[in-house]
Amino acid sequence: MTRTMAPPTSEPVVTPPADLTPLSVRTMAAPTPSPTSPNADLAPALELREVTKVYGSAKGAQVRALDGVTLTIERGEAVGIVGPSGSGKSTLLNIMGTLDRPSSGQVFVSGWEVSKLRDDAVAAIRARSIGFVFQQFFLLDNRSAVDNVADGLLYAGIGRSERRRRALSALGRVGLSHRASHKPNELSGGECQRVAIARALVHDPDILLADEPTGNLDSATGEGILDLFASLHESGSTIAVITHDPTVARRFTRVISLWDGKIESGGER
Ligand SMILES: Nc1ncnc2c1ncn2[C@@H]1O[C@H](COP(=O)(O)OP(=O)(O)OP(=O)(O)O)[C@@H](O)[C@H]1O
Ligand SMILES: [Mg+2]
Repeated sequence: MTRTMAPPTSEPVVTPPADLTPLSVRTMAAPTPSPTSPNADLAPALELREVTKVYGSAKGAQVRALDGVTLTIERGEAVGIVGPSGSGKSTLLNIMGTLDRPSSGQVFVSGWEVSKLRDDAVAAIRARSIGFVFQQFFLLDNRSAVDNVADGLLYAGIGRSERRRRALSALGRVGLSHRASHKPNELSGGECQRVAIARALVHDPDILLADEPTGNLDSATGEGILDLFASLHESGSTIAVITHDPTVARRFTRVISLWDGKIESGGER
């Protein structure tokens, strides 16, 4: 039977251990809490206010990929984000994940208003707070599963043996302990995606963002990946999964629907 992701019963507070703080945060000026960047432990995992993204130059053809998007994702939620091709889903994921900046509007990650911060400070917050999963697994072919996952901690200032220990633990969470020494070409597609999910989890992010994570998988394997997201959610992870597949979206208790760059439904809780 298909498991649906249940609404959070409690509000887990995920605080990255101090030793996971990226070096860049510790050595450069870390953003100081202010009225516009409240206590990160109490803030929603993500918040967008009136976010617009326009591609193209003022003189040339312009595409309004996002148009006034306002949404909040609380800690402990599992949200599906759906919409047809070209509706702005990946643009939204890139902006939620601070990989891209909006043309206008505000983006808050764990309470930090990233739209006001310099690129290096944003990169540090991204490294600490966000885990990414993509349709393509982006694994290094010549590295074992455990090394691919451990590489997710390369910039966290953690020694090699501790990186490996945490990577093995993350592989355990995705049910792949028995494949730790396998390289990607010795793994199935579903297993590769589990490795990619373990890499996204290994630094204990505040939110996991996934863009079409089942897009390269057959439907049975994709179901297994969705079951994994459901169990991660049950154990407290905050998850946003972007998909154009309505059957995937049905697995989530909250679904945000995008149409032509605007939120059609599900934006407010
Ligand atoms: N770098 C870019 N320059 C110009 N236009 C872009 C750029 N990236 C995306 N777009 C346009 O913005 C709109 C939204 O694109 P986006 O990739 O976010 O859609 P999507 O919902 O993820 O679609 P799909 O389901 O096909 O992945 C599309 O019309 C697209 O052509
Ligand atoms: Mg897309």
